[in-house]
Amino acid sequence: QKIAVLLGGSSAEREISLNSGAAVLEALRKQGYDVHPIDPKETPVANLKLDGFDRAFNILHGRGGEDGVVQGVLEQIGLPYTGCGVMTSALTMDKMRTKMLWKGFGLPIADMEIVTKTTALDLDPQAVVARLGLPLMVKPSREGSSVGLTKVNKTEELQRAVELALEHDDTVLIEEWLAGDELTVPVLGGEVLPAIQIIPDGEFYDYNAKYISDNTQYLCPMPMSAERWEELKKLVKTAYEVVGCRGWSRIDVMTDSQGNFRLVEVNTTPGMTSHSLFPKSAATVGYSFEQLVEKILELSV
Ligand code: DAL
Ligand code: MG
Repeated sequence: QKIAVLLGGSSAEREISLNSGAAVLEALRKQGYDVHPIDPKETPVANLKLDGFDRAFNILHGRGGEDGVVQGVLEQIGLPYTGCGVMTSALTMDKMRTKMLWKGFGLPIADMEIVTKTTALDLDPQAVVARLGLPLMVKPSREGSSVGLTKVNKTEELQRAVELALEHDDTVLIEEWLAGDELTVPVLGGEVLPAIQIIPDGEFYDYNAKYISDNTQYLCPMPMSAERWEELKKLVKTAYEVVGCRGWSRIDVMTDSQGNFRLVEVNTTPGMTSHSLFPKSAATVGYSFEQLVEKILELSV
């Protein structure tokens, strides 16, 4: 079997994808697979079938690779690929629409205001702050790795934060500040893996805390009672199913000041560098990095 590892791409998360892709390539190569790096920025994915590939391991992060676009091309040429399908990838790239769907199913999300390019013109910061309080979290609906995020501490800062987020997407979320814990939960082929608690270096788990700082701490598995773990597992499994995930995904969750879980987002191609969270969690239930990569590949359809 000739396997294409799709990596790089042209999203804001290109560099992370190159790192994830290098780790995946090495893991598959070590296990004897005939693997080839394919960067869609340079090589058209539409030709992969003609070039003799049998399967694709998609480790593109962000728009163009994690949002259904590349998945649609792979569907069209009939090449099996890892991870979620077109609809789920497109939906979950969009935090606003994912949250609306979860909310429709009665699943817990942060209280939020949705701003579009049009409604931004009528934004009333006082009214938003009166309803959601301070601080606030402002983020573009479709972006990964915390790009375009701002924590707003004062009412006067809201407008600027919204404008910044609108540079990244035409829909922006203004969310109540969740003062509890930050955690993430990997799901592998429908099996919920242990949660990881993230204790960021700085005020929240931003790009710096994720990829640059050495002072972000991770607790895996996250300490919690068996009862609470059952509650979280059920929530994450439902959230995964409601948006139609398959293969693998990592669901980010936070808690409010009372400890209530709030769904944050789905990452359908989670980071897979040696420092990434998905492999950390999988390791606690016995998967080596190589075994995890092989399992994800086996789950491709
Ligand atoms: N979007 C990054 C790669 C992650 O969630 O792991
Ligand atoms: Mg993400």
